Parts: sequence; structure tokens; C-alpha cells
Amino acid sequence: MIKDITIGFLGCGNVGSGVWRLLEGFGEDIAHRAGLRFHIKKVLVRSLDKQRGITFPEGVLTIKPDDVLNDPEIQMVVEFLGGEQPAYDWMLRALNNGKTVVTANKVAFALHWHELQKAAKKQEVGLYYEAAVCGAIPIIHSLEESLQANRIDKIYGIVNGTTNYILTRMSKNAEDYSLVLKDAQRLGLAEPDPAADVEGLDAAYKLSILASLAFHGRVPFEDVYVEGITHISKEDIRCGQELGYTLKLLAIAKRNGLEVETRVHPTFIRSDHPLANVSGSFNAVYLHGHACKEMMFLGRGAGDMPTASAIVSDLERAASACQHQYPTFQNELNPRVALRHNTDWQCPFYIRMLAKDAPGVLSRVAKCFADENVSIAAVQQNGQRNNGRVALVVITHQASEKAMQRAIAALDQDIAKLESIIRVEEE
Ligand code: HSE
Repeated sequence: MIKDITIGFLGCGNVGSGVWRLLEGFGEDIAHRAGLRFHIKKVLVRSLDKQRGITFPEGVLTIKPDDVLNDPEIQMVVEFLGGEQPAYDWMLRALNNGKTVVTANKVAFALHWHELQKAAKKQEVGLYYEAAVCGAIPIIHSLEESLQANRIDKIYGIVNGTTNYILTRMSKNAEDYSLVLKDAQRLGLAEPDPAADVEGLDAAYKLSILASLAFHGRVPFEDVYVEGITHISKEDIRCGQELGYTLKLLAIAKRNGLEVETRVHPTFIRSDHPLANVSGSFNAVYLHGHACKEMMFLGRGAGDMPTASAIVSDLERAASACQHQYPTFQNELNPRVALRHNTDWQCPFYIRMLAKDAPGVLSRVAKCFADENVSIAAVQQNGQRNNGRVALVVITHQASEKAMQRAIAALDQDIAKLESIIRVEEE
């Protein structure tokens, strides 16, 4: 017996078109295997005339949101709009109208998870968001279900393909950031306005979702420290490589008892770490659970068909669920009662300075670090003298973030001008 499910789309860009094509080409397999057949009744678009490479049957395309949100025959709404608004309002309306929502929207979801989930629970409908984090990689389902028997204490994610593509090219070919960015835009791998990706925000939304699920407590987006890759130079990448490190934009979440730290920033990791080999636009999530131990997920985090893979799988999950499940958070009712947000994490640091090549300079730099109890693990001074200055690279032992910032602030810039500071993760 086949169960027929009527669905509506909010938006039909790249990913929406991918879902249409996947259901068109693979729908019979799903019907045969799972006994489910999805009928797309309405597709909300901004322009009826835009070419999408799809022949929509007469009457499917609409420019009126109500044609999707208020149609009693539509049981599930798939949201592809992206951004906070109007996506959030429309998802909420769909849920309040008794429709299950499937979304790829990390922004609206990370910012309004609580309200969306409350509406879904009240109406006893589903809220599915696998596609919002790392495209095709089934990390949401794994955290919600397959890894439930674990106390997860660490997540390291390469969750943004654009920045991973840029850093990979900078690392492999010693290319400049701005040139690679332009090339990535030309190839369609970076958006015309790349800010959300290169400034780390896209990764921070995803980390807020991952950390909340992994630690069973809501980790608000605002609690994620965010630093992007716009200031990264090929000089730093090269110095790191000489010391055995590879640079990645990592989304890091750690839990120690009730203390949680969440941060997105360029990070040096050992070049033999599995994440160091995640190249190009690939995404990966590496985590540690007390029972499963280390685990790594690798796959495509964006693109029409990889994202459609997650959306259509969510549609199937939703359609075959006897009862929809909702994650529970210790701090849902009274935010932050249980979890403490730690902003003074410990990690080793890489610091590159342009120092005067003169007697006593090293000891003055070392004193700034020692005054803040920051212990130096390695010092490298080489390269050509330029205007009487040389590159001085210091790697510290584990140090407190705040102590490190104070030590840097105390540096006499005439003696040792700070060029860059990059956090290190030693796994
Ligand atoms: N812009 C994202 C990336 C994909 O580059 O990975 C969508 O989240």
C-alpha cells in the first residue's frame, strides 16, 4: 500500500530544484521501497518567469505564500528561503497550521529553534533540519538517535565548504586569500557577497545547532565566539606547515561537566590529524563520545543534490514516523540554568610578530608572556631581515585565552609588532 503525501515548497533555488529532480528521478524507488509517494502541489517563487531548468506542471508555481501555508491538502512544507525572515514567520505559520516542516535553513533554525519546536510539539507535527548542517552528512540524525548512548564531550567540525576550499588552495599552492576568493566566486563556490562564509557566521550557526544537540542544552548562537579567515595570510600558513600544522576554520565545541565552550576560528591542527586531510569544499565532523570514542563524518556540505539528499531523507523520516520526536534540552525553560558558558578556554597559541633584530628583543617578548603565566613551547626566528625586522614565531603551551590577550596587549609594538595570532588544537 502506498501512502500519498502532499507537499509544498517555500522557495525553489538551487536546492529546491535539486529536491524536485531527486523526487522526480528517485520517487518510484522511494514508493517501491518505503511505500511513500510525495506529490509537490505548490512551489512558492518570487518570479513566475525565471528559468529553473524544470518543466513545472500548470498551476504548481505561485507567488502567494498562502497558497502553500493555508492549503489544507498540503501536509508537509519544505523551506528553502534561507535567512531569518520571512522564513521564520512562514515556518511558524506552517507548523501552527498543522503542517510538518522540513528546512535547510540554519539561520532561522539556530535563532528560533525554541519557538519552532514549541509550535511543532503543540500541533504534534514534525520539524526536521538535517540539511541545515553539513548538507548530505547525516550528523543531525546521528546526534539525535544513533549516538544517544554517549556523553559527547568534544566536537571539531569543518562545517563550511567555502572557507575550506579557500584555505586548501592557500595551503597547497601558496596562493593569496583575495585571489583564491575571487576565483572561488568565479567558479560559483563562494557567494557574490561572501561575508557570512568567510567571517565564520555560517559555521557559527551550524555549531550552535550541533553543540545544542550533542550537549542536550541549548547553546545560543550569541554564545559562539566567531572569527573568520579574512585576515589569514599565506605567510602564516607556510610558517604553520614548517611546524607540522595545517590551518582549518574549525567549529569547536567542548563540554566539561556543566561548562561549555563554543568557538569558530582559524585553527592550526597537526598535519597528521584526520581533519587536516579534509580538502576543498568537503565538510567533516570529528567528535568524541565516552562510549563511541573518536568518530569522523565526511561528505559534501552544500550543493543542490547533496543537500536534496538530506531533505528527501527527512521527508521520508517524517512521513514514516509513528510519532515525531523532539530533542530535549536541560536549559530549555530557564536558559542557561545548568550550562555555564566558558569564554576563557585553554589552548596553545601561535603568534607571529615582526621583531627588531637587536639584543634583548626576545627576552622582552618572553617577559610579556611570562608576566601572564603563558609558557613558551617553541620559538622560531628565520627568514630575511626586512627594514631591520625579522619574523618571530612563538608557539605557547596551553594558555588561557584571556591571559594570552593580555600578554599580546602588553607587547611593545615598536619592538615586536604583532602580525597574527592563531589558536592551536593538539588532539
Ligand atoms: N555556504 C555554505 C558553505 C553552505 O560554504 O559550506 C551552506 O551552509
